[in-house]
Amino acid sequence: MCGIVGYVGGAECAPILLDGLRRLEYRGYDSAGTAIFDGQRIGVLRAVGKLRNLEKAVDEAKPAGTTGIGHTRWATHGRPSEVNAHPHLVGDVAVVHNGIIENHLALRARLSAAGATIQSDTDTELVAHLIDSHVRAGEGLEGAVRAALRELHGAYALAVLSAREPERLVVAKNASPLVIGLGDGETYCGSDIPALLPYTRDMVFLEDGEMAVLERGGARITRLDGTLVEREPRYIDWSPVMAEKAGFKHFMLKEIFEQPRAMEDTLRGRLDRERGDINELEIGLDASAAAAVRRVYLLACGTSYHAAMTGRYFIERLARVPATVEIASEFRGRSPVVGEGDLVIAVSQSGETLDTLVAAKEAKANGAKVLAIANVIGSAIPRMADGAFYTHAGPEIGVASTKCFTTQLANLLMVAIWLANRRGHLDADATRALVEDMARLPHLMRDTLMSTRQLVANIAKRYNDARDVLFLGRGPSFPIALEGALKLKEISYVHAEGYAAGEMKHGPIALIDAAVPVLVLCPKDAWYERTLGNLEEARAREAQVIAIATEGDEAARNVSHDLVEIPSVREELTPFLTVLPLQLYAYYVADFKGTDVDQPRNLAKTVTVE
Ligand code: AGP
Repeated sequence: MCGIVGYVGGAECAPILLDGLRRLEYRGYDSAGTAIFDGQRIGVLRAVGKLRNLEKAVDEAKPAGTTGIGHTRWATHGRPSEVNAHPHLVGDVAVVHNGIIENHLALRARLSAAGATIQSDTDTELVAHLIDSHVRAGEGLEGAVRAALRELHGAYALAVLSAREPERLVVAKNASPLVIGLGDGETYCGSDIPALLPYTRDMVFLEDGEMAVLERGGARITRLDGTLVEREPRYIDWSPVMAEKAGFKHFMLKEIFEQPRAMEDTLRGRLDRERGDINELEIGLDASAAAAVRRVYLLACGTSYHAAMTGRYFIERLARVPATVEIASEFRGRSPVVGEGDLVIAVSQSGETLDTLVAAKEAKANGAKVLAIANVIGSAIPRMADGAFYTHAGPEIGVASTKCFTTQLANLLMVAIWLANRRGHLDADATRALVEDMARLPHLMRDTLMSTRQLVANIAKRYNDARDVLFLGRGPSFPIALEGALKLKEISYVHAEGYAAGEMKHGPIALIDAAVPVLVLCPKDAWYERTLGNLEEARAREAQVIAIATEGDEAARNVSHDLVEIPSVREELTPFLTVLPLQLYAYYVADFKGTDVDQPRNLAKTVTVE
């Protein structure tokens, strides 16, 4: 769960490496470093803490050179410290690594017994020792890396620089992401697309078990056995501005307000308003396969899990297929009954979350069809899946997921409508009506954001001292209550819980007193009356009640302290709107508290460890 970058070309590489690391900082931010060949030797700079500390060190040392590698770390082996920071330099070889080497204990013992002086607690330094030993035995860098890789078990994206061959970098990948960027007389590598976007849009995605030699003129990819791989670059049309803050105080706020645009991009080409139908989707299924689906499993973690919970509701309600939603880390390893005839939908913004990836692989090995819903193009989960149905939210930089959540909901609803239609549960008129209503989402989301922003900021200011906050909802609003609580927890560090409103009287109601704000999602839907009852119960116990309700709902206004109104929409669309004030609430509470909104403590954007 670290970020790596590399450059080989004709320009001074220090600013390019730092810029790439800045764009990757969301992947980890407990230390950072660079290794640059200065014409004679490799100079390494490393600093503990945020990237600005490394920037300061680079500013002072002013390392010169046109080949280099960089790293931003999220500690797995060994505490955050300078000695554990990457790059690790052993002899003439410098290495940066994202991932976990599983056989590190055996390697450490073997290398120590052979006389190696190991400085750090990391698994990465062992990789550098291995490569160095092959270099010293007379192998060229490519051969040395290949030989070392044969001795590694586990996950890695590696970039290796050698003072003996400073005109090239060698990179390799297994289970951690690695993108190669092709420029004009310069070649880059990075953990993901935004790191390279200001420099090139022509990118090649390395697959597991592959390595590449990067030189000024391009990249040569081979498998571990040495066979050559021919792969065309893909043109990435995200603009660099999409990865910048665009005047907002934080990426998270920018991404909240980007949701109408992200929704437009995600729906484009998929909803056919003229025909009143959903186009054939890139989901790896045709109509006869849709008819044959006997059960759907939705697998995900965190916010994506909340989207998957909402997806279950869409699929069961519209397509009438039994659907189960599973936390990916719980699903894997418990021998789930999954196999032929099952459709597994793996939902993941990054497409790299290890638990989701392994769970989906397990299901696929048992004969299930796997559909990935992901945002990052070419990431691991879509690559292993039978179908990849991308959200087109653009890069999400804030650790707290917002625009990827609502676009995941859109993809899940489209899959549900498509399945329902192809299985004969939605006739042409009902499909047309849903398509028409979905097409209004960007506009409805824009209105909701604009009309609630100030009000929610005021409410957040009033309650930002609360130590505990409850979120309640029923039906499709239940996962949104969970999502509201998760958002608040992760960025403001306030204790928050989401509950199915009907569960209140089975225990959680004991938590309520005058100091506890309770946010109740009570849009006008099939659950409305009952949820309103829960709202009154909370009010009767002196809670501070904030209702997120349909516009013009006087009953909700009368029983709540604050009312946040969303436009009136059909039940399937309420989650797209009710979540918006909850995202804003979490954002403003965190901002008033002054926490690090985009990079909250202990978290990382992409979780590639178990
Ligand atoms: C979202 O706000 C969280 N930071 C986190 O729960 C995230 O959703 C989870 O780690 C799953 O990530 P993925 O969507 O990239 O698989």
